[in-house]
Amino acid sequence: MQNAIEMKHVKKTYGKNVIALNDLSLMIKEGITLSLLGPNGSGKTTIIRILTSLAYPDDGEIRIFGSGKLDKKIIGCVSQSSGVDPMGTGKENLMLQGRIYGLKGDVLKKRVDELLTAFQLQKDANRLSKQYSGGMKRKLDLAMGIIHRPKLLFLDEPTTGLDPEARKDLWAAIKQLQRKEGMTVVLTTHYMEEADELSDSIAFINDGKIVVEGTAEELKSKVGKDTVSITCDNQEQAYTILQETYETRREKEQLEMMVEQGDQELSKISGILTKHSINVTSISVSKPDLGDVYLLYTGKKLREEENE
Ligand SMILES: Nc1ncnc2c1ncn2[C@@H]1O[C@H](COP(=O)(O)OP(=O)(O)O)[C@@H](O)[C@H]1O
Ligand SMILES: [Mg+2]
Repeated sequence: MQNAIEMKHVKKTYGKNVIALNDLSLMIKEGITLSLLGPNGSGKTTIIRILTSLAYPDDGEIRIFGSGKLDKKIIGCVSQSSGVDPMGTGKENLMLQGRIYGLKGDVLKKRVDELLTAFQLQKDANRLSKQYSGGMKRKLDLAMGIIHRPKLLFLDEPTTGLDPEARKDLWAAIKQLQRKEGMTVVLTTHYMEEADELSDSIAFINDGKIVVEGTAEELKSKVGKDTVSITCDNQEQAYTILQETYETRREKEQLEMMVEQGDQELSKISGILTKHSINVTSISVSKPDLGDVYLLYTGKKLREEENE
């Protein structure tokens, strides 16, 4: 399969001191969805700006579908901040965007209708978009981004700031899009659940560098250990005891242990505590998530970024 994107040794600095991309290399195969997962400031938007010719790299090589020159007609981009005109209706926004790409007459009308339907915006098509909810606005952004049927679509933090329900709704819309249009999609996110849900492949980005890339499964298997969480009486004493046998962390109300086969270890752990007359109130096991993998590779937590 052809590479949709090849970035080799790309560098980008802002001013003298800010290194946004630091010798970054990344290959993205045609037809897949790749997520760039990393915290704020790690360089995600800079990658998109460079790939869409809104910014220029200081150094390095970039090829899109094998070419060094970008054909803007084949790409679509939904940026982090909305491109929707709040004073236009949903339909007017789409019509205008279509005209920008040279669509006219019946072809334009048909495409706009098709997109309004696909994103469930028909009944709100003639309302001013400033009255739309956050989720509706993002869907309109998405529809505008693909009006010209791009081969390659960039989505910069598509669901940041949305509530969980609107996020799920948008995920469904993105998935449907992938199935129907067969595009290559590059999306950035700092939500591990989003990367997990939508991507064929995930690249971790940290301080302007790609740290590791793989499928969600491949990445999770690198952690190799489950987390056993336990709440009990005498937490400090329990910590001291468990630490002798297990890699143990104190996390707020509970203790967490990294163990190879969590479910097989549960009874052993509660047995140890019972022997020391410590009452166990709850014990559970969880498989590694992408946040655990990110922590393993970068020493940074992704989770902390999620509540802003
Ligand atoms: N126009 C700019 N001027 C100066 N610094 C910038 C500019 N754009 C981005 N940066 C810096 O580059 C780094 C990467 O930013 P960005 O690509 O926006 O990260 P992300 O999208 O992952 O949050 C950050 O340190 C950011 O402050
Ligand atoms: Mg960004």
